Amino acid sequence: MTYTSPIPVTDAVVYNGSGLELVDLTMAYGDIDVIRGVSMKVEPGTTTCVIGPSGSGKSTMLRGINRLHEPKSGDVLLAGESALKVKPDILRRRIGLVFQHFNLFPDHTALENVALALRTVKGLGKQQSLDVAADRLAEVGLADRAHHRPRDLSGGQQQRVAIARALAMEPEVMLFDEVTSALDPELVKGVLNLMASLGQRGMTMVVVTHEMNFARRVADQVVFMDAGKVVEAGRPEDLFDKPQSPRLRLFLSEVL
Ligand SMILES: Nc1ncnc2c1ncn2[C@@H]1O[C@H](COP(=O)(O)OP(=O)(O)O)[C@@H](O)[C@H]1O
Ligand SMILES: [Mg+2]
Repeated sequence: MTYTSPIPVTDAVVYNGSGLELVDLTMAYGDIDVIRGVSMKVEPGTTTCVIGPSGSGKSTMLRGINRLHEPKSGDVLLAGESALKVKPDILRRRIGLVFQHFNLFPDHTALENVALALRTVKGLGKQQSLDVAADRLAEVGLADRAHHRPRDLSGGQQQRVAIARALAMEPEVMLFDEVTSALDPELVKGVLNLMASLGQRGMTMVVVTHEMNFARRVADQVVFMDAGKVVEAGRPEDLFDKPQSPRLRLFLSEVL
């Protein structure tokens, strides 16, 4: 697979991603710490891919970053300021999160799904929300699918609508949690290409993924997590070609 020729998107949309930093982040469910002192720095406009075995805390960490689950201690810095001091609903506009399951409204078209978010979250009027939604759909290469309902779109196209909906909030950072793992194999590439294109255009992204080729080619930084901790982090060529820890070597031997 190659990620150098993204799907057609409206050209020259440039993002102005903010920096993100996790500082000794600890998160728990009840008495059990599942994120245990995680620190990482994501420079503005860069892509960090997070890899690691199931249950290692990847999803919990993303949920902590935009406070769907409140951290127990430590800090999340967005553009240098504590995200823990930002009102959660404002924070979730500034940090978009896209999941494996896209949760589109089935009875609304792609255009309406994006426009509805603009009206309810950003308070735009009807016509303006439709205009902006059309631009965002063009940005993800779906201008010609705007009037289709989810059931008339492929899984990959539905996921791109969900990404357009998140982009419509004009986020400074985008978080992706295994967004291709529910897709049929032939649909994966279009979504990965879109993410690569967002990164090339300046979005700051944290991408939890099982797609090791994507991580190797697109990530500025790869973070390997196990048991709630960062075991190894660095440039993709270092992690994939010269893994230092036995746990990463074992993980790679199982997934590659
Ligand atoms: N809502 C929850 N309540 C209690 N424990 C949870 C909850 N969600 C996840 N966990 C536990 O937290 C740990 C990390 O899970 P998760 O963040 O989903 O890992 P990953 O995304 O890497 O698979 C696992 O041990 C999981 O069982
Ligand atoms: Mg997960």
